[in-house]
Amino acid sequence: MKMILHITSSARGNDSYSRQLGKEIINTLKIKDPSIRIKTWDLVEEHPPLFTNTMIQGFYMSPEDPAYHSFEDLKYAKNLVGRINEADIIVISTPTYNFSISAHLKAWIDQLVRVGITYRFDQTGNRVGLITNKKVYLAVASGGKKVSDHQQNDYISDYIKDVLKAYVGITDVVTYRIEGTAFPGFIPNYEESLNDFQY
Ligand SMILES: Cc1cc2nc3c(=O)[nH]c(=O)nc-3n(C[C@H](O)[C@H](O)[C@H](O)COP(=O)(O)O)c2cc1C
Repeated sequence: MKMILHITSSARGNDSYSRQLGKEIINTLKIKDPSIRIKTWDLVEEHPPLFTNTMIQGFYMSPEDPAYHSFEDLKYAKNLVGRINEADIIVISTPTYNFSISAHLKAWIDQLVRVGITYRFDQTGNRVGLITNKKVYLAVASGGKKVSDHQQNDYISDYIKDVLKAYVGITDVVTYRIEGTAFPGFIPNYEESLNDFQY
């Protein structure tokens, strides 16, 4: 039985369009596979920690080190990787804040990426991702339209794709968007957002 992990990161709770777009993605996946199980993880309700000096030391500690298993600052990161490993599909919902992802999601990614756990270096010094068998759906909400006079680059989708590929090993990432949410009279049309849905 497959499992979807739904990560939500908007501060707007149930009002969030990115959260709802993520739910619509899950509903679409459930039509194809009704047996699919869903777990949700709200990063605003359950804040990821921010880096500290000791935490960064822990990130580079070998699991063979006797202190590794009792290292308190690694607790969140260890739990996170366990939850990722359980999932077959990960749906990541993010708002656009100042051209980028939410700070909660960034802090979560900083807890996810770890040498020896999500990536390693091979004998030739190339980075190799270690968590390869996942599909990611990215659900992005933005007040404006993706690329405008004010924004030439797609900092969200490109960043998520690059970081997951280089530091985790996940290459199957599909992005869906709900745009223009700040426009007067905006009414979400999730069906339109998902009209080229890829299973
Ligand atoms: C602090 C803040 C910064 C924002 N920055 C942007 C931005 O750079 N570009 C944009 O298109 N919309 C921006 N918006 C609008 C949000 O992306 C929009 O409200 C979106 O619907 C938020 O996602 P949510 O509905 O999942 O909360 C911003 C909103 C806030 C509160």
